[in-house]
Amino acid sequence: MNPSFKKKILCIGAGYVGGPTMAMIAHKCPQYKVTVVDINPDRINEWNSENLPIYEPGLYEIVQSARGKNLFFHTDVEKGIRESDIIFVSVNTPTKTFGVGAGMAADLQYWEKTARQILECSRSPKIIVEKSTLPVKTALAMERILSSANNGIHFEVLSNPEFLAEGTAVKDLENPDRVLIGSSQTPSGLKARDELVEIYSNWVPKDQIITSNIWSSELSKLVANAFLAQRISSINAISDLCEKTDADVSEVAHAIGMDARIGNRFLNASVGFGGSCFKKDILNLVYLCRNYGLTEVADYWESVVRINEYQKKRFILNMLKAMFNTLADKKICLLGFAFKADTGDTRETPALYIAEKLLEENAKLVISDPKALKNARKDLKGVSGDISYIEDPYEAAGGCHAIAVLTEWALYAELDYQRIYTSMEKPAFLFDGRNIIPHQKLYEIGFNVYPIGKPALKHF
Ligand SMILES: NC(=O)c1ccc[n+]([C@@H]2O[C@H](COP(=O)([O-])OP(=O)(O)OC[C@H]3O[C@@H](n4cnc5c(N)ncnc54)[C@H](O)[C@@H]3O)[C@@H](O)[C@H]2O)c1
Repeated sequence: MNPSFKKKILCIGAGYVGGPTMAMIAHKCPQYKVTVVDINPDRINEWNSENLPIYEPGLYEIVQSARGKNLFFHTDVEKGIRESDIIFVSVNTPTKTFGVGAGMAADLQYWEKTARQILECSRSPKIIVEKSTLPVKTALAMERILSSANNGIHFEVLSNPEFLAEGTAVKDLENPDRVLIGSSQTPSGLKARDELVEIYSNWVPKDQIITSNIWSSELSKLVANAFLAQRISSINAISDLCEKTDADVSEVAHAIGMDARIGNRFLNASVGFGGSCFKKDILNLVYLCRNYGLTEVADYWESVVRINEYQKKRFILNMLKAMFNTLADKKICLLGFAFKADTGDTRETPALYIAEKLLEENAKLVISDPKALKNARKDLKGVSGDISYIEDPYEAAGGCHAIAVLTEWALYAELDYQRIYTSMEKPAFLFDGRNIIPHQKLYEIGFNVYPIGKPALKHF
């Protein structure tokens, strides 16, 4: 090891957040040693290989620029803790599936185990940075655990939620809208906060690094995801009304988005949001509100999740209705299985719900995706039905009765749909769950086209 490293940074949890975030810090700050540890040896092996465990545009290049120089991946959590000055904790915080708060509250078991392990292995003072998304007030629990040994070692807990979006993680990390750091307002809290500010200042402009009290920071992450998901559910709710009234949701979105108070981003109607975070974080927020007796507030936010479930259900019902109320033995091609474009992540993907419901209707599925087929196979393992996985979209669509576009991969907008149409059963249907296909062109080719929130284009 280069003994002249200015700081030794550790990240516990080598997932979608820990891996890219630390790769960016190492890439931008050759003067720091950055180590990422995980209890999952397969994941660590993949981080050390040519095939990273996650797909993100540009990620391989930044990992490669630093790996083995000042970026290291391994499984020795204890050694990592002992040797570091600053520890980012980026373990998973899924929705609890058991006991009190099941289906709503955050499951903090991985989090708490990490806190105890830090306490057990530390021989010197450390700054602990919450990178995982956590219920507000978790830092208090963390501090209580860390000070329970009375061993004279001081731990300062900071909140530094991650706002990256999968699919654009590298871009978001390199050029974030803001970095948020919450700390306690004590002299040691402010000193630790300044150390973290210094790390980010290596590449993020100072005025984009904002600081707050620790509870505001923890809560801001939940609220950011709730607001983002709420915009999707809002436009999706309107898409239903558009379909009933012959209005066009894209035209409505364009018209309202030009109002500077509303803004034009995140207004694309779709089959629904997915990903590991939106649903879990809103439910976490809802649970917190219920805990504080805020029933109306909790109900308001819960409706964002309910509309999302409704949107997925509506998509299936539309398919069923359009295809003469029976899908049995019909071959349906799903174009896309990832929860969004430019990632292989399928956690909470609407495609899984759609696939399961189509199989319940005894449809035969052909699933296509450029990056998510490995995860799709895992997700559908044990689900009975006729399923095949074919990466090439032309081969996948051949002989199908219908195509459902479920992920907004750019390549799906540019396919040779004449060629696809020729190879399909007739009448050929296309259900565009992302509104990315040139609908009129497909209609002219011969497809019956069903977008989201726009009049269907059909030949009968
Ligand atoms: N995925 C996103 O887009 C995103 C964005 C912002 C914030 N977050 C938040 O970041 C956190 C991590 O999310 P993720 O998507 O990276 O999860 P992930 O499941 O991809 O990664 C978490 C990793 O932590 C490891 N881990 C669990 N317990 C451990 C322990 N005791 N010691 C060492 N490693 C341990 C797991 O093996 C796993 O590899 C979550 O709280 C999530 O809400 C995620």
